[in-house]
Amino acid sequence: MKIKACLFDLDGVVVDTARYHYIAWKKTAEDLGFHFSENDNERLKGVSRMDSLNILLDIGKISLKQDQKELLADKKNNLYVSYIRQMTPDEILPGVIAFLDELRDNGILIALGSASKNAMTILELINLTRKFDVVIDGNKVGKAKPDPEVFLKGAFELGIDPANCLVFEDAQAGIDAARNAGMHIIGIGQAENLKNADFIIPGFENMNFDRLQSLYF
Ligand code: BG6
Ligand code: MG
Repeated sequence: MKIKACLFDLDGVVVDTARYHYIAWKKTAEDLGFHFSENDNERLKGVSRMDSLNILLDIGKISLKQDQKELLADKKNNLYVSYIRQMTPDEILPGVIAFLDELRDNGILIALGSASKNAMTILELINLTRKFDVVIDGNKVGKAKPDPEVFLKGAFELGIDPANCLVFEDAQAGIDAARNAGMHIIGIGQAENLKNADFIIPGFENMNFDRLQSLYF
């Protein structure tokens, strides 16, 4: 059996927090006096908070000192946290819970591999913490995606060889991280935004263990 563990990104894969990140960054850009489009936002997906701010400032052609950047990153995070505080399990993306349960019933281990420092808060709010055998988040890694650290740590904690791991990701930085970790990858979203995945699916609604078996086993 080729796939022994599945590692899930959080934002944009398990739950639609990508939308809240976008609204908070858009407001940050507007406060700085420039427009930030949904297309620009694709570059921020999967990227750490400070790296995201650096890309945003680059788009706005603004240069700031490190202490100003830290204040701005905190401000964006406070705004983001104010949005996610209201989250409920209803916001889990369609098909996710059934797929996680099916994986577990078939003996596949499950990890979360997220760049977010808010990952545990979100998992608690949507009542999903107990579905994951291991959670690696932005507080546990030193190097952000596309570095493979987050997924390699997940595989290590699960005790599974990276070659037997499958990653689900909605961001190019995450696909690159999974590739760098030597893992199998399914992209979530639209093919034009995601290069180098093994397969692309729109979401988990039509995903199940049989389909996974037909793709990889
Ligand atoms: C990733 C998101 O999961 O986490 C990025 O895709 C985000 O958009 C990053 O910047 C860091 O999240 P947080 O919650 O620590 O600011
Ligand atoms: Mg994501």
